[in-house]
Amino acid sequence: MENSCCFLLVLFGSFAISHLVQAQDQLGFISLDCGLPDTELSPYTEGSTGLRFSSDAKYIKTGQIGKINTTLEFLEPHKTMRYFPEGKRNCYNLNVEKDRRYLIRATFIYGNYDGLKTNPQFELHLGPNLWTPIDLVKSSSGTFVELLHVSTSNSLQICLVKNGTTTPLISALELRPLHNDAYVTKSGSLKLFTRNYFHGKTGSIRYPTDIYDRRWGAFTISYWIQLSTSLLVDNRNAYFPPKDTLEEAATPRNLSAPLRFVWRSDNPKEQFYVYSHFAELQDLGSNETREFDMFWDGNNFGDNIIPPKLKLLTWPTINPMSCTGGKCIFELVKTVNSTLPPLLNAVEVFTVVEFPQAGTNESDVLAITNIEATYGLSRISWQGDPCVPQEYAWDGLNCSSINMSTPPRITSLNLSSSGLNGTIAAGLQNLTHLVKLDLSYNNLTGGVPEFLGNMKSLRFINLRGNDLNGSIPQSLRRKGLELLIKGNPKLFPSVSPTKPPNNIKEFPTAIVVSVVSVAIIIVILIIFLVLRNKKPLTTEVYFLYPTALQTPRSPTKRRFTYSEVVEMTNNLETVLGKGGFGIVCHGILNGSEHVAVKVLSQSSTQGYKQFKAEVDLLLRVHHTNLVSLVGYCDDGDHLALIYEYLPNGDLRQHLSGKDTKSIISWRNRLRIALEAALGLEYLHSGCTPPMVHRDVKTTNILLDEQFKAKLADFGMSRSFPVGGESHVSTMVVGTLGYLDPEYYHTSRLSEKSDVYSFGIVLLEMITNQSVIDQTREKPHITEWVRFELNRGDITRIMDPNLYGDYNSRSVWRAIELAMSCANQSSARRPDMSEVVTELKECLVSQNSGENVKMESQSSINVSMSFDTEMFPSAR
Ligand SMILES: *[C@@H]1O[C@H](CO)[C@@H](O)[C@H](O)[C@H]1NC(C)=O
Ligand SMILES: *[C@@H]1O[C@H](CO)[C@@H](O)[C@H](O)[C@H]1NC(C)=O
Ligand SMILES: *[C@@H]1O[C@H](CO)[C@@H](O)[C@H](O)[C@H]1NC(C)=O
Ligand SMILES: *[C@@H]1O[C@H](CO)[C@@H](O)[C@H](O)[C@H]1NC(C)=O
Ligand SMILES: *[C@@H]1O[C@H](CO)[C@@H](O)[C@H](O)[C@H]1NC(C)=O
Ligand SMILES: *[C@@H]1O[C@H](CO)[C@@H](O)[C@H](O)[C@H]1NC(C)=O
Ligand SMILES: *[C@@H]1O[C@H](CO)[C@@H](O)[C@H](O)[C@H]1NC(C)=O
Ligand SMILES: *[C@@H]1O[C@H](CO)[C@@H](O)[C@H](O)[C@H]1NC(C)=O
Ligand SMILES: *[C@@H]1O[C@H](CO)[C@@H](O)[C@H](O)[C@H]1NC(C)=O
Ligand SMILES: *[C@@H]1O[C@H](CO)[C@@H](O)[C@H](O)[C@H]1NC(C)=O
Repeated sequence: MENSCCFLLVLFGSFAISHLVQAQDQLGFISLDCGLPDTELSPYTEGSTGLRFSSDAKYIKTGQIGKINTTLEFLEPHKTMRYFPEGKRNCYNLNVEKDRRYLIRATFIYGNYDGLKTNPQFELHLGPNLWTPIDLVKSSSGTFVELLHVSTSNSLQICLVKNGTTTPLISALELRPLHNDAYVTKSGSLKLFTRNYFHGKTGSIRYPTDIYDRRWGAFTISYWIQLSTSLLVDNRNAYFPPKDTLEEAATPRNLSAPLRFVWRSDNPKEQFYVYSHFAELQDLGSNETREFDMFWDGNNFGDNIIPPKLKLLTWPTINPMSCTGGKCIFELVKTVNSTLPPLLNAVEVFTVVEFPQAGTNESDVLAITNIEATYGLSRISWQGDPCVPQEYAWDGLNCSSINMSTPPRITSLNLSSSGLNGTIAAGLQNLTHLVKLDLSYNNLTGGVPEFLGNMKSLRFINLRGNDLNGSIPQSLRRKGLELLIKGNPKLFPSVSPTKPPNNIKEFPTAIVVSVVSVAIIIVILIIFLVLRNKKPLTTEVYFLYPTALQTPRSPTKRRFTYSEVVEMTNNLETVLGKGGFGIVCHGILNGSEHVAVKVLSQSSTQGYKQFKAEVDLLLRVHHTNLVSLVGYCDDGDHLALIYEYLPNGDLRQHLSGKDTKSIISWRNRLRIALEAALGLEYLHSGCTPPMVHRDVKTTNILLDEQFKAKLADFGMSRSFPVGGESHVSTMVVGTLGYLDPEYYHTSRLSEKSDVYSFGIVLLEMITNQSVIDQTREKPHITEWVRFELNRGDITRIMDPNLYGDYNSRSVWRAIELAMSCANQSSARRPDMSEVVTELKECLVSQNSGENVKMESQSSINVSMSFDTEMFPSAR
C-alpha cells in the first residue's frame, strides 16, 4: 500500500513537471496587451501569472491608444486600451492553427480613459458573426468574455463593432490552444457562462496553475460543506483542470438533500453545455457508497455516477440543454442505495454561440489581402471579412452570396482613384470570381497583363487614367469582356489585326464597327467562304503594273427597290452572315454579276444616319484600287448596301497562306502594296474634299480575280474641310495595332494616320508576322522589327515563306519606307505620294535585280540603328 502510494507520487510528480515545462512555454499563446506601445516595453512578463504580454500593434492597423484614469488604476492588470473612434468595424487579425480549438478571451476596461465618464456599449464579432454584445454600462468596472472556438481557417478576425453611438475599446486579447478532444459540441462554439471550483475560501486560479489559462473562481454557499484532501488528485484527461481545483469538493450539508444550482436565463432559446469535474476525496468504508444522478431542468442526464477515488472524472454534456420558465436548475441527486451525498469538485457552464454566416472564400480573402498589401492600401473599412456582414463589407467590393452557409465570393472590385502605383498586381488573378474590375485613375505603370484576359468570369475592366504602356494582350480581346483604357498616354492601342476588338469600348466607335465596315467584314467572310472552294492558285501568273490615278468608271451605282433586293438575293436565300445590324446575303445582279448584299435590320434606327452618310461618301469615290459600291436600297423601312464582290479574299489570308496554297512573291507583294498605296493616295489627294480612311490594314485590302488590290471598308472614313486645317478632331477609331499612336493620343486626325497604318501593312507584307504577338519579346511589329534589325540581319525578319527569293536592296528600301511610315511622329512620316514613288522604285529595283540573283542575302550584315528618331524618312 505504502509502496504503491509512493510510486503514484513519483508518477504524478514527473507528469506534473512535463506539464509545467509545456506551460512555461506558453506554446501557441497569444497575449496582447491592447494599446501597449510597440516599444522596448513589449513584450513584458506579467508579474502574477508569468504570461508574456506584447503590444497589439502588429495585429491591428487602426485605433488609438488610451490609458486608464481611475483612482483604482493600480489594481488593473491592463492599464492601456485601444479605442476606435473611426470606422464602424475594427478588427484584429490573428494567425491561428486551422481546425484547432482555442480559448479566446477579450478583456474590456473603460477606466474613464477619455474623461467623459461614459461607459460604452458595442459589439464584439468573430469574423463575420456576432460573438457577443459588450455592455460596459452594466459591467462598469470592466468585463471579460471567453469563447471556446475551433478555428475554420488559419486566420482569426476579432472585430470591435460600433453599433451604437459610443466608441468601442479593448484592453486585452488572449488566445490559448486547447486539447481538441475537450469541449466538443454538436454545433456552434461555447461562450463562458461560469467556471467554478468549490473551495471554502475565496480566490481564483488561472495560468500557470491552469496550463490552459482558464480562469476559475472559488465558490461556495452555506448549504454546502467542503470535502478536501491533501493527497494529489490525478487530473489527467483532455480537459486537464488544475489539481488545485480538484482537491476540494462541495457536498450538501443536509446529507439527504441534492447538490443544487439555480440561475436565471431570460432567453428561452439559450442553450447550455455543462462540464462537471468529479473526484472522490474521502476514504470510503466498505459499508459506504457515493453514487448520484444528474438532472438538468428535471431531466436526467447522468446516471449512477460514482466519482473515482483521487482521480478525475469529467462528465460532459453530449447534447445542448435549454431552460424553461426563465430558470435553469442543475442538480446532483444521490441514488437510493448511496450512503453518501453527491459531491462536485469543479464545474464549467457555457452557452452556445452559433456562427451561421460563412466567411468569404479563403482564397479570395488571401487574394484581396495580397492586393491590399501590394498597393499598400489602408482603408478603414478594409478589416475583418471582406464581404460579410454586408453592413460592414469592405468598400469598393461587391460579393456574391447564395446563402449564409456558402462562402461569399468577391465579384466586383473598385479601386478607382485609390492612388495605386506600380504595375497591375498579379494577385488579381486569384480573385477567380471577379466580374468587374475598376483600376481607373491611379498611377499604375507597366503593361496590361495577359492574365486579365484569362480570368473567365471577368466582364468589365476599367483601366482609364493610368500610366500603362505596351499593348493590349490578345487574351483581352475575348467576347463579352468590356475594356476601358482611355487616358494611358503610353499604352499602345494595338491588338491582333484579324478581328475587330469589339470589346474595347475606348476605341469605341472604332470598334463599334460602323454598319458599312461590318458589312465589309462580312464580305470578306463571303469571299473567304467562296475561296475555300476554289482550286489552288498557280503562283505568280499575274503581274499587272498598276496604272496611276484612274479615271472614274461611269457610275454603275444605283438605287434599288426592296423588291429588287429580294430578287437579286433570291429572297435572302443565302445568308452568309448575321450581326446586330442585320444580315448579309449573296446576290446576283443582272443574272451574272456577283454581289454581296447587306440588309440592315429594321430596328436598327441608329444605323440609318450612318447608312446615309456612308452611301453619300461611297458614291463620291471612284478608283480602281478602292472597293466599289454597286448600289444601295433605301426603300421605306428597308435599307441595304450592295457591294462589288471580290473573290480572292484579303491580303492577310494570302500572307498567312491559310486556305490558299499560294504564297505571294516579293515582287507581287510590292505591286499589291503599290496598288493599295494608290488607293490611299487617291483618298488623300484625289478626292475633294480629301478623306482619311482610318482603318487601313491587311484585312481591308481585298484582291480581285486578277489579284489586284482594292482598299475596302470606308465605314470609318472622314472628310476634311477643303483648304482648312490639316487635321480634324474626331472620335478616335481604327484597329489596334494599326492605329496611329499620335492620333490616338491627340484625337487629331490627319492623313498621316493612314500613312502609319500603311507602314504597319508593309511590315506585315515583309515579315508575315502578327502585328501584335504577346509571345514575342517585342509584341508590336514595329518594336520587333527594330529590335531584330538592330541585330543587323534582315533574314531574321523576312517572311520565311519567301525562301530568300528577293532582292535585298529592294527589301531594304521597303523596310526603310515601312519604318518611316510607322514613325511615332506624324511629321516625320512621308505622305502617300512619296510612298507611291518609293514603292515604284522598290519595284524597279526588284525587277532589275531579278535576273542577276543576288549573292546570298542571308549573309548581309548591316549595322544600322533602327531607332525611330534616327530613322531616315523615305524619299
Ligand atoms: C486623470 O485625469 C485627470 C484630469 O483629467 C488628470 O489630472 C490625471 O492626471 C489623470 N490621471 C491619470 C492616471 O491619467
Ligand atoms: C447594438 O447591438 C446590441 C446587440 O448586439 C443591441 O442590444 C443594441 O441595442 C445595439 N445598439 C444599437 C444602438 O443598435
Ligand atoms: C434535508 O433534505 C431533505 C430532502 O430534500 C428534506 O426533506 C429535509 O427536510 C432536509 N432537512 C433539513 C434539516 O433541512
Ligand atoms: C459503516 O460502518 C461503520 C463501522 O464500521 C459505522 O461506524 C458506520 O456508521 C457505518 N455507516 C453506515 C452508513 O452504515
Ligand atoms: C440497491 O441495492 C440492492 C441490494 O444491494 C439492490 O438489490 C438494488 O438493485 C439496488 N438498487 C439500485 C437502484 O441500484
Ligand atoms: C474557395 O475558392 C477556391 C478557388 O476558387 C476553391 O478551390 C475552394 O474550393 C473554395 N473554398 C470553399 C470553402 O468554397
Ligand atoms: C456594388 O453594388 C452596389 C449596389 O448594386 C453598387 O452601387 C456599387 O457600385 C457596387 N460596387 C462595386 C464595386 O461594383
Ligand atoms: C501620380 O503621381 C504623381 C506624382 O508621382 C502625383 O502628382 C499624382 O497625384 C498621382 N496621381 C494619382 C492619381 O495618384
Ligand atoms: C508607390 O508609392 C509609394 C509611396 O508613394 C512608394 O514608396 C513606392 O515606392 C511606390 N511604388 C512604386 C512601384 O512606384
Ligand atoms: C495565387 O494563389 C496561389 C494559391 O493560393 C498562390 O500560390 C499564388 O502565389 C497566388 N498568386 C499570386 C500572384 O498571388
